[in-house]
Amino acid sequence: MRNILIPGGAGFIGSNFVRYLLARYPDYRVVVFDKLTYAGNLDNLRDIETNPRYAFIRGDICDAPAVERAVRAHAIDTVVNFAAETHVDRSIMDADAFIRTDVYGTYVLLEAAKKFGLRYHHVGTDEVYGWVAEGSSRETDRLLPRSPYAASKAGADLLIHAYVVTHKVAATITRGANNIGPYQYPEKVVPLFITNALDNLPLPLYGDGRQQRDYQFVLDHCEAIDLVLHRGSIGQVYNVGTGQETCNIDMARAILRLLGKPESLIQYVPDRPGHDRRYSLDVTKLRGLGWEPEHTFAEALEKTVRWYVENEWWWRKLKSGEYLEYYRKQYLERR
Ligand code: NAD
Ligand code: TYD
Repeated sequence: MRNILIPGGAGFIGSNFVRYLLARYPDYRVVVFDKLTYAGNLDNLRDIETNPRYAFIRGDICDAPAVERAVRAHAIDTVVNFAAETHVDRSIMDADAFIRTDVYGTYVLLEAAKKFGLRYHHVGTDEVYGWVAEGSSRETDRLLPRSPYAASKAGADLLIHAYVVTHKVAATITRGANNIGPYQYPEKVVPLFITNALDNLPLPLYGDGRQQRDYQFVLDHCEAIDLVLHRGSIGQVYNVGTGQETCNIDMARAILRLLGKPESLIQYVPDRPGHDRRYSLDVTKLRGLGWEPEHTFAEALEKTVRWYVENEWWWRKLKSGEYLEYYRKQYLERR
C-alpha cells in the first residue's frame, strides 16, 4: 500500500482521515478525488495543501473515465471511499443525488477496483440497520434502512458484498456511528447547534428530543478505518462506535452548558419523517482487532465545541447562500 485514492477527501471525515494518514505513514501518497459539492471544502485541507505527498483532483465518482484516469496517473493501489451524499434531511427532500453518488458511484469505484486489482475500503454507516429498539446491531444483522440516505448506503454495502463474492474484489466495510469533531458541515446536528448557540439562535430539536445516537470523535473513527484497512479480513464488515448512547436533548443541553448559553435557546420543532429513534452498535468484532475509542462523549463534545469557538473563520462563511436556502426550507417552511 503506497498510493491511496480518497474519494470524498474534502468532506468532514475524509479530510480528517487524509491529515491522519499523512502524519501516520511517512511513505504514503494521498490523492483526494472530490466533486466539491456543497459539503466539499478545500479549506478542510488547507493546512496540508503544500505537502508533497498530497494531490487533489476535482472529479465525480460517477464518472468512470475520470476515476480510471486518476488511478492510472497516480499508480493508485488502494481506495478508501468517503464520497457520498450524507445528510438524512436532504435525502428526504430529494434523494436523486444520493442514489447516484452513494449507489452508482460505489459501483464505478468497484469496477475500477476489479479492473486494476485495487484494495477497496468503504466508509459505511450504522444507519443501514435502521431503528434499533432493543439491544445492539451486529455486522450479521439484516439491513433495514428507513431513510433514502440509509437505503442508498445499504445499496452500496450490498454491491460491495456482491463484488467480493463474484469478482474477488479485496474490499472491507466499516459501519460508523455518528461522528463529531473539526470540519463538520453545520447542517449536522452538533455543529448546527454549536454555531446557532454562538449566534444566540434557536437550537431546533426534532420531536421529543429523546432520540439516541452514539456520537464518536472523528479521529477515533479514522483510527478504526486505518486498522481495518491494514488488519481487517477481506470481505468483512466492522462496526465502529463507542457503545455509549446519548439523547439529543442531553447533547443539546451539554453544548449550551459548555458555551454558557441558556436552555431557553432549545426550540422543539416538528419531527423528521421516519426518524430513527435509536442506533446502537455492537463493536465486539472491532475490539477483537485491538481497537478502543480514545474519547468519551463528554471529551469528544468538549474538543468539538472548542474547535468551533476557535475556528469561526471556517464556519462563518458556510452559513450563507445555499446553506440559508436549505435552512429556510428545512426549518422555517416546515413549521
Ligand atoms: P460530508 O458530507 O462531509 O462529505 C462528503 C464528501 O464527498 C464531500 O467532500 C463531497 O464533495 C464529496 N462528494 C459527494 N458526492 C461526490 C461525488 N459524486 N464524487 C466525488 N465526491 C463526492 O460527509 P462525511 O460526514 O465526511 O461522511 C463521509 C462518509 O462517512 C460518507 O460515506 C458517510 O456516509 C459516512 N459516515 C458519516 C458519518 C457521520 O456522522 N458524518 C457516520 C458514519 C458514516
Ligand atoms: P444528524 O446530525 O442529522 O445525524 P443522523 O444521520 O444520525 O440523523 O442528526 C442527529 C440527531 O439529531 C438525529 O436524531 C436528528 C436530530 N436532529 C435534531 O434534533 N435537529 C436538527 O436540526 C438536526 C439536523 C438533527
